[in-house]
Amino acid sequence: MADQHPIVIGNWKMKLGIPESKELASAIKKINLTKAEVVICPSFVSLTEVAKIVKHADIALGAQDCFWESQGSFTGEVSATYLKEAGCDFVILGHSERRKYLNETDEMVHRKVGMALSAGLVPVVCVGETFEQRHDGSKDYTLIQQTTKALEGVQIGPDQRVIIAYEPVWVIGTGQAIEPEEAALSQQVIRQVLFDLFTPSVVKNNFSVIYGGSVDATNTSQLISLEENDGFLVGAASQSAEEFEAIIKNI
Ligand code: PGA
Repeated sequence: MADQHPIVIGNWKMKLGIPESKELASAIKKINLTKAEVVICPSFVSLTEVAKIVKHADIALGAQDCFWESQGSFTGEVSATYLKEAGCDFVILGHSERRKYLNETDEMVHRKVGMALSAGLVPVVCVGETFEQRHDGSKDYTLIQQTTKALEGVQIGPDQRVIIAYEPVWVIGTGQAIEPEEAALSQQVIRQVLFDLFTPSVVKNNFSVIYGGSVDATNTSQLISLEENDGFLVGAASQSAEEFEAIIKNI
């Protein structure tokens, strides 16, 4: 989505409880956010409280997951419809931590993408290779598989958006992002898959491809200057108002 401000999505993971989430949301509200489209993704239990804080601010709310059915006997799961009711406009799907710890598969991610779209949420679909996959030469294959399986057969309406976050798994939480040129190559692979699945105008108007993995104020400006990159999914550095502000400043 070339003509828009870069999008910066903060993934608070399971790092902040309700009081800390409220505090961080209030601090972020005071930042000059005009250079970016900002989304924050607190834990499920903090969503409604944070929604009250960001209601009249230029900050959108996202969740970190949703279920693939809208309602039913699915103990412990959270419906995309309920997330919308709670004030969410975005939902992170297929994060590598969920793929790793909860055995989330491409098929589950695919079903969740469909559900998120039909509930009116923008899915933020995470794809990325592990260290082993990078070293055995299957990085591009992994990106192609994950992106294709998440999106194959999905209908994208004119007003719907999908964000693909390229997150090299081996870089997440290390404090060291990959070289911008390497991120660009992977993002080109992802974009090629999108061109294989959708019309050029849908790819241009309805999709964004962003980067995640140890994004901080020191690497933001280099990574955002890449033609392929539409923004960031930020973990650790989004959990501090000062660091988040520095990222936005450097865009
Ligand atoms: P990180 O996390 O910025 O702490 O590496 C990114 C993510 O997991 O989305």
